Amino acid sequence: MLIAMAGLPGSGKSTVSVELAQALGCALLSVDPVEAAMWHAGVGREQPTGLAAYVVVEFLAREQLLIGNDVIVDAVNDVDLAREHWRSLASRLELPLAFVEVFCSNEKEHQRRLAGRQRDIKGFPEPTWQSVVERRSGFDDWDGDRVRVDSMRPLADIVATVLEYLASRRRPDTTIQPSGDPNLA
Ligand SMILES: Nc1ncnc2c1ncn2[C@@H]1O[C@H](COP(=O)(O)OP(=O)(O)OP(=O)(O)O)[C@@H](O)[C@H]1O
Ligand SMILES: [Mg+2]
Repeated sequence: MLIAMAGLPGSGKSTVSVELAQALGCALLSVDPVEAAMWHAGVGREQPTGLAAYVVVEFLAREQLLIGNDVIVDAVNDVDLAREHWRSLASRLELPLAFVEVFCSNEKEHQRRLAGRQRDIKGFPEPTWQSVVERRSGFDDWDGDRVRVDSMRPLADIVATVLEYLASRRRPDTTIQPSGDPNLA
């Protein structure tokens, strides 16, 4: 299945993604390092590298899904156009899709975490709190099916909640569960 993360910078997506990928033993593809790699390779920052990174990850995700691996895509996915990449990919491959939205319910803690963390993405600017506030106001409305988890909760609880949701989104395997509920697909 395809699992797409969503959430503001510093909300805790990558932290949750790593735990999930380890629990599932699946591929984890992050969009930001791909964009940074393009800049390193000499592609100008004025080029649409943000969009290009989503497209590259989409191709890589497709490759993994075709060989039967689950894939987690770690990206902000704040606008519907970005989310549509994943809907379209899953639908073309006729595979289940699950969105996992991470948010931090405590604004002060969110700000503190953003300021305190250091990602190891060479050349990639760390987002400022101001840019997070701006991005929050541009976060497209979303009433689609997804699991929302608050990163103020302990990580183990979050992972357990998400794994339960993912299990409910998987297609019933007719070999293992011949009487599985088709509505779960
Ligand atoms: N459940 C949690 N409990 C405590 N700290 C957390 C939790 N989730 C995330 N953090 C901390 O918050 C900071 C930001 O988390 P993370 O880097 O995962 O955010 P992100 O959503 O991936 O951000 P970005 O979009 O900028 O990559 C990190 O320092 C991380 O250790
Ligand atoms: Mg991240």
